[in-house]
Amino acid sequence: MFAVTAARIDAEDPLAGLDLGERPDPVAPDGWVTVTVKAAALNHHDVWTLRGVGISADRLPIVVGCDAAGLDPDGNEVIVHSVIGDPDAGGGDETLDPRRSLLSERYDGTFAQLVTVPRRNLIAKPAALSFEEASCLPTAYLTAYKMLFEKSGAQPGATILVQGASGGVASALILLGRAAGYRVWATGRTEAKRDRAVNLGADRAFEPGARLPERVDVVMETVGQATWAHSVRSLRPGGRIVICGATSGDAPPAELTRIFFTQLSVIGSTMGSRDQLARLARFCEQAGVRPVIDRVLPLRDARVGFAAMITGDLFGKVVFVP
Ligand SMILES: NC(=O)c1ccc[n+]([C@@H]2O[C@H](COP(=O)([O-])OP(=O)(O)OC[C@H]3O[C@@H](n4cnc5c(N)ncnc54)[C@H](OP(=O)(O)O)[C@@H]3O)[C@@H](O)[C@H]2O)c1
Repeated sequence: MFAVTAARIDAEDPLAGLDLGERPDPVAPDGWVTVTVKAAALNHHDVWTLRGVGISADRLPIVVGCDAAGLDPDGNEVIVHSVIGDPDAGGGDETLDPRRSLLSERYDGTFAQLVTVPRRNLIAKPAALSFEEASCLPTAYLTAYKMLFEKSGAQPGATILVQGASGGVASALILLGRAAGYRVWATGRTEAKRDRAVNLGADRAFEPGARLPERVDVVMETVGQATWAHSVRSLRPGGRIVICGATSGDAPPAELTRIFFTQLSVIGSTMGSRDQLARLARFCEQAGVRPVIDRVLPLRDARVGFAAMITGDLFGKVVFVP
């Protein structure tokens, strides 16, 4: 089969470690199934893999890609849940299994014609979503869903600030948050990105670091170092930061005094459960939410998509079609 693999780690030049070519077809172990990939979405996780973050060289070469939608062996249209873990080992939540991994961390990922996963990791694809749209759900949209509806504690009508509007998770937060009745504010590094955010449904969009008209109930963080101080400053007393990523760096000054003095909460969030993925798919179907896709590319042009993500020259998701 044709596949895109991480062959080498290069922290400075991640594209240097990307290999495109033929790989042996996978063989599904007992309890696993082989999915024919129809579409696979790119995440920043795939760039981190090439940089050697969250993976060690002894795991390489490994097929990259966390997200896929495709056909199961019986021809059913499915979405692949990327979290390989045991719910029992995580108190009912596979994301809390200490041994859990995402596709492409321990097992080959989705940027290929075929991918094998545990049978329980398949959910039905809603007919209303195309394969390309459905392939965006398992990482970025699932993470946004859990941040909003499990971790934020925010009631509909609350004001939520999304840092870095153009990202896959950030644009999902805008769409899902808007559909759920939050007042969504966003920041973005360029005017074009801020305009897109408003077109997507953000109530207002601001330059990074801007003074807001009023303090917000919740800040959604994926950017990290570049926006952290602004996130802390923008919260009302008692407000929450929900954080799932730190693209620009993970060691900003912690702003501890402000956190305790204004009684803020910092809540970490990672991926979501299979059941949450199934509810997210239904939410998209019911609320008419369709993932925002920057571009669809043949898998053979994966380098172009990776390059756009590395430079930040995109809005929403890049999807590959094998
Ligand atoms: N914990 C989890 O389960 C989980 C799940 C998904 C993602 N993540 C993490 O969340 C982060 C975002 O992932 P993604 O796939 O959404 O990435 P992405 O699509 O590549 O988006 C990148 C984002 O980073 C922002 N950004 C990058 N550098 C910046 C800088 N110097 N200053 C300001 N903003 C900057 C961009 O904001 P602009 O719009 O302003 O350009 C954009 O929002 C990644 O670090 C990823 O690993 C974690």
